[in-house]
Amino acid sequence: MMSLETLLEKMWADYCQLNPAAKRIYDIFTSEGETVLNDHIALRTFNHPRLGIESLAQHFKKYGYVEKGDYTFVEKKLYAKHYEHPNEKMPKIFISELELEKVSPFVRETVNKLVDQIPDSMIQNEAFAMAGRPWKMTYALYSELAKESEYASWVAAYGFRPNHFTVNINNLKKFNDIHTLNEFVKSKGYTLNKSGGEIKGTPTDYLEQSSTMASEIPVSFDDGTHSIPGCYYEFAKRYPLANGKLYQGFVAASADKIFESTNRVK
Ligand code: NI
Repeated sequence: MMSLETLLEKMWADYCQLNPAAKRIYDIFTSEGETVLNDHIALRTFNHPRLGIESLAQHFKKYGYVEKGDYTFVEKKLYAKHYEHPNEKMPKIFISELELEKVSPFVRETVNKLVDQIPDSMIQNEAFAMAGRPWKMTYALYSELAKESEYASWVAAYGFRPNHFTVNINNLKKFNDIHTLNEFVKSKGYTLNKSGGEIKGTPTDYLEQSSTMASEIPVSFDDGTHSIPGCYYEFAKRYPLANGKLYQGFVAASADKIFESTNRVK
């Protein structure tokens, strides 16, 4: 079994390779003298019996990650859990799943056919969280799925890989304030997700978040290469609870809007 550090480094490398824009923003912060820690890494899946949150979580629990909070997103038909490591420097892992019993028969049957193509060995592999797309997929089918669920279409196109990494704002020196950070990121030419406002959450929620909009990247489908939204980069600032400790959970109303960072531009 590889070390947790190695697994997280490999996930970061996979994410940067797919999303050069996120790596450029990371490099801008480090060139400003900042040390960038990750607040959390987000993964997406379907709640199919062979997949589901646990299929991904099992690989992190082996390193000591513990389930903490859970969240429901009624409109998007998603359910999520977050996991924390005893070492607070390690990123939290946020795993969401599409609730297949709530989507249309078309989406459910399409996903069932995709899942049938995954070998068990892939799900059990310690690198499942960055295994990529294990099924055949056409751009036509991707587009059809996206009409009902942007989330389903994203997982159908990319399979299993980090959806986003998140900069821990509290650990930054010059950009310790989310307003300052947002203005700086925009000044470098990046677009932020404006759904629900650029800043999701308030200090009274104990969590403020913002994110870039995922830039379009070319993806190879069985019917040709097409550019579609990839991954985004997120920024999170946490506030202390009454006990003095920083809040470590998530705010469902904020995360609901953050999910839209991978929506296609209409
Ligand atoms: Ni996130």
